[in-house]
Amino acid sequence: MIVHGSVTVPGDKSLTHRLLLLSGLAAGRSRLQGALTSLDARSTARILRVLGIGVSSLRPNADVFVQGRSRFKRPLKPLDCGNSGTSARLALGLLAAHGFTARLTGDNSLRRRPMRRVTEPLAQMGAHFGPTLPASLPFAIKGGSLRPLEWRLPVSSAQIKGCLLFAGLAGGVPVSLWEPTGRSRDHTERLLRGCGYSVSEDAGGWIHFAPTGSLTPFDLAVPGDPSSAAFLVGAALLAERGSLTLTGVGLNPTRTGFLRVLDRMGAQVTPSTSGERCGEPVGELHIRPGPLRGTTVAAEEIPGLIDEIPILAVLASRASGTTRFHQVGELRVKESDRLGLLAANLRAIGSRAAVEGDTLVIEGGDAPPVGRVRTDADHRIAMAFAVLRVVPGAKLRVDNLQCAEVSFPGFAATLRSVTSK
Ligand code: S3P
Repeated sequence: MIVHGSVTVPGDKSLTHRLLLLSGLAAGRSRLQGALTSLDARSTARILRVLGIGVSSLRPNADVFVQGRSRFKRPLKPLDCGNSGTSARLALGLLAAHGFTARLTGDNSLRRRPMRRVTEPLAQMGAHFGPTLPASLPFAIKGGSLRPLEWRLPVSSAQIKGCLLFAGLAGGVPVSLWEPTGRSRDHTERLLRGCGYSVSEDAGGWIHFAPTGSLTPFDLAVPGDPSSAAFLVGAALLAERGSLTLTGVGLNPTRTGFLRVLDRMGAQVTPSTSGERCGEPVGELHIRPGPLRGTTVAAEEIPGLIDEIPILAVLASRASGTTRFHQVGELRVKESDRLGLLAANLRAIGSRAAVEGDTLVIEGGDAPPVGRVRTDADHRIAMAFAVLRVVPGAKLRVDNLQCAEVSFPGFAATLRSVTSK
């Protein structure tokens, strides 16, 4: 396959969720350009509407307008978060400071995902969840006035961090947080600083939030999602020749860990920063196909590339030598059991892969990938394996590529548009 062209990737999912929610609590009209319009983004828009916030429909290439209010309205029906863990966890942070009961639910995948990591600290701040602390959706939260929080996160996670910072923001109380293994994406910190809140980090790695700012309507352009870009980067690297340019990609260093790993693998990916959006660097990625070699990905690197492990694992299966991803147990509680599925699917298509404790080990090879891929409706598993179709001789059946719509609208068409025989 030949790779060619220049593509602008869809808006950043993490920033879109955060900006929709923050706009919802900023009294007045916000405008978001280039926001993601995928199913997950729509879940956040949907729950905001149930909370009395006006959100225009999310359509590709159309600005999104949010008519915010300084407090949410009591919801008259459950807040359906669909497949989106970020919608659920971030919304819980804001709801913790509202004195009404809200019931949250989601699809089968989201109902299996761990929630005690947010309900426990929110309960400590003063939110109510009924007689026993709920461990998974569906459940109800009754918020109210909140207490300050000092909390060591059980895992480095931007969803937990974002939830608790949002609780501090909506409740007007200080929050101090500590992440155990590397720093997760810092979009929330950057956005809150942009609104005049104090968010600082001390020498011991604690992040301190103080409620010094205020929310006013936003008028912002959202960077392209580096996690979506990663799948196209993967396709370009595996092609036989050509080159690909991705434009408007968010290059926040807490999101670009995959570029550092690809560099170690010998990949020809050249980033160039050209500007800033939402207080974050944006720019281009220029990719040329070429051989890859295996590498070791350390535990501290994982939070900075957590969503890129599926595509990196697929690329590792085409590299020379062995690749190890250390301490990737969190992958078991993503949209699917990504750890188990990655290893099982790689084996199903003729590669060698194993899970050893919390380490994913992949032996690279160059036989054409042939077989069936089970996605469990996980968008990133689907896209990662679909990328392998650019390898000469590949014969792959991905059982559900439609689920890519969760984060990357039109993924299959975009992939087709940049590759040809
Ligand atoms: C996200 C954080 C990550 C990531 C998810 C989006 C966010 O989850 O996997 O796709 O926007 O905060 P965790 O915080 O659970 O690692």
